[in-house]
Amino acid sequence: MRSFRTLDDIDLAGKRVLLRVDMNVPMRGGSVADTTRIEKIIPTITEIIAKGAGIVLASHLGRPKGQVVNELSLAPLANVLGSFLKDTDVIFSADGAHLVNPGEVVLLENLRFNPGEEGNDSEFSKSLSQKADIYINDAFSCAHRAHGSIDGVARLLPAAAGRLMQQELEALNNALENPSQPVAAIVGGNKISTKLSVLENLITKVRHLIVGGAMANTFLFANGIAVAQSLCERGMADTARGIIDKAKDAGCTIHLPFDAIVAAGLEDGVAARTVLINEIPADKMILDVGPKTVAQIISLLKTCKTLVWNGPLGAFEFKPFDSGTNAVAQATAEFTKEGMLLSVAGGGDTMFALDNAGVAHSFSYISSAGGAFLEWLEGRTLPGIAVLMKENQALPKKT
Ligand code: 3PG
Ligand code: MG
Repeated sequence: MRSFRTLDDIDLAGKRVLLRVDMNVPMRGGSVADTTRIEKIIPTITEIIAKGAGIVLASHLGRPKGQVVNELSLAPLANVLGSFLKDTDVIFSADGAHLVNPGEVVLLENLRFNPGEEGNDSEFSKSLSQKADIYINDAFSCAHRAHGSIDGVARLLPAAAGRLMQQELEALNNALENPSQPVAAIVGGNKISTKLSVLENLITKVRHLIVGGAMANTFLFANGIAVAQSLCERGMADTARGIIDKAKDAGCTIHLPFDAIVAAGLEDGVAARTVLINEIPADKMILDVGPKTVAQIISLLKTCKTLVWNGPLGAFEFKPFDSGTNAVAQATAEFTKEGMLLSVAGGGDTMFALDNAGVAHSFSYISSAGGAFLEWLEGRTLPGIAVLMKENQALPKKT
């Protein structure tokens, strides 16, 4: 039984729906540079319209900090959104005064132009709630923000999750809350200091923690390995050792690279070679995991049922330092396709790294959320999810 409400639990016919989405899309020269986030909300919009409701669509764009910043207006997004909706026009309403009719989509101006949004101000939430009968949140990627359109308004209207939010919550639930065992996690990226809480939560939840990226260098250094010119948080060595000890107590094995691809610097086409981890030349830096490590990760994944992945294994933006991430991503895609592995990935860079590996559509689920995915990996309760929980609201029964 789901503990949060979805579109299945609400009668939408003739209703006005306030739909919070994440249209915080990359813009270049006044146009949308990537429409992924827009495409992902189309099924929810289409379903709500098909069920006879009208939609007041609300989103933020960028961080205007309570001021009107013309370049961050949502106005140009009305047409882009409209181009994905066959029979539905999208009306942009800067002042939000247009009362929505069934079958219509009215797009509000950037919520963060108003300081009441980030301030979770009760007057602001009230004014949003007055535009609709029902509140639907389809923005998992914003659920870590206790803002007016995410927290405040959800307390004033009957609230439920949209299809994208639902999909995301179900995928995350299958990956960590209620997974098939054994579970492995891959955590990469540059710094352990930014992912300490993620690591501390994961060691209590997974059987295998595979650490890659420059973050692994700090663990290696803590274990007495000379990492030479590699990026490394030397001041975090004690913390790293603490995590290793806690993992042991929790029955989680931490896997570190035992070979690496090294080079003199980080640039495309730089001379790179593979060395064992205890033979890093003094003038070189680690830029990717080596082939032996890759083979070991892949054979480990063969023994696992579930994988949670956040962060690349190497400096994937530069070739050939994407090879470790690519090989592991492709193996994961294959195991997923064969039904052997449930694979869930997310976080800012991770999506780009998996896209670069050509597997953007081959995992069980890839979340487009950045900060929200990380906070979920930390085991935190996201405010935008908490307000959707059935026990936290009294929604009128479907008639
Ligand atoms: C995102 O892009 O991560 C979300 O839209 C949240 O944006 P924010 O980090 O500015 O709150
Ligand atoms: Mg962000």
